[in-house]
Amino acid sequence: MAKTVAALVVAAGRGARLATPDNKQPKQYRLLAGRPVLTHTLNTLAKHPRISRIVTVIHPGDTNLYRDAIAALPTEHLKKLLPEVPGGDTRQKSVFEGLRALSGKSCDYVLIHDAARPFVTFDIIDSLVHSLESGTEGALAASRIADTLKRSQGNGKPLVTVDRSNLWAAQTPQAFPYRLILDAHEKAASVNRHDFTDDTSLAEWNKMTIQLCESDPGNFKITTMADLNRAERQAKILTMNEQVSAATPLSTLQDIRTGIGYDVHAFDEGEKVVLGGVEIPHTRKLKGHSDADVVLHAITDATLGAIGCGDIGQHFPPSAPQWKEASSDRFQRDAMRRVSDLGGRIAHIDVTIVCEEPKIGPHRDRIRKSIAQICDISEA
Ligand code: CTP
Ligand code: MG
Repeated sequence: MAKTVAALVVAAGRGARLATPDNKQPKQYRLLAGRPVLTHTLNTLAKHPRISRIVTVIHPGDTNLYRDAIAALPTEHLKKLLPEVPGGDTRQKSVFEGLRALSGKSCDYVLIHDAARPFVTFDIIDSLVHSLESGTEGALAASRIADTLKRSQGNGKPLVTVDRSNLWAAQTPQAFPYRLILDAHEKAASVNRHDFTDDTSLAEWNKMTIQLCESDPGNFKITTMADLNRAERQAKILTMNEQVSAATPLSTLQDIRTGIGYDVHAFDEGEKVVLGGVEIPHTRKLKGHSDADVVLHAITDATLGAIGCGDIGQHFPPSAPQWKEASSDRFQRDAMRRVSDLGGRIAHIDVTIVCEEPKIGPHRDRIRKSIAQICDISEA
């Protein structure tokens, strides 16, 4: 049977290194692309199919901020959240509180993650879980060091270049069999060690063997204002590229514009029609200069309309020889490029086909799939 995986998110810190005299709000509640950092972090973890429950450790004074941060999560993600747990005055103590809260929740593995790392990816989670499944006592997301490293020997003394071939920057998540890491934390607390800044250091102290899982430098921790600014740029790009599905809460789409397209084609002599990029054998074809894909033409018109950029006839006139028998997905891809140049993306398409023949029903799913693929959106 597949092992159960829980995530433990530590969010009880105060973010002192980012605080200014005017703004002391902890970094995990600062906004990134319009949503709290913690919302991004929880959203990715909760979306992952292997993670079945999540416990978040918060500062007792942050209950309202926490409630606001989880309010934007879709219901199916909220179902994975266990009640939040009050943290301690060091990260290690906060993790320990979270581990204790998972006791009796039948979890085999736990991924311990900083709330302040909102760019954790499915690839990282998959490789950590895979490492545990192969029998390791701990798995660490870590990135290679890209910069040449220098050791200073003091003023006026020569610099020393450090061999970086075996050096890694430790990140989170850090993943462990639940029982092993709970035991290690209990042992550290019993000898009054509360100063481990991450869980693999504590695990190493407990002689556990940790496997490195190569991660992306993009999974950085927000520590300073420069990190928060970098995160804002990264979040905007990701939000723009993220596929939107029916499950995407509309509240996360900040500027919604709608276009309506309409097209009519007569029949002509032929053997097939093309609808939404799908060829359907028929006793006639649709008359037109291009492949006469009436469905894609209407979608392209709607796409151009949503950004106030004219219509399909204006950009691809029937008089132009280069569009003769052209596949109409080219028109739609051109319209989509115009949308993305303006910082937009397509969230949803609704199409109605009015015709007596051919029968659309048997081809409906293929047409949906083809439109989703051409328009780079999810089918759901
Ligand atoms: N953390 C925690 N409990 C603490 C301290 C830290 O849950 N007592 C969490 C933070 O919320 C953060 C993660 O551990 O998600 C990593 O810690 P760090 O980057 O040091 O965050 P802060 O302690 O909040 O920041 P600073 O050290 O600048 O105050
Ligand atoms: Mg700290």
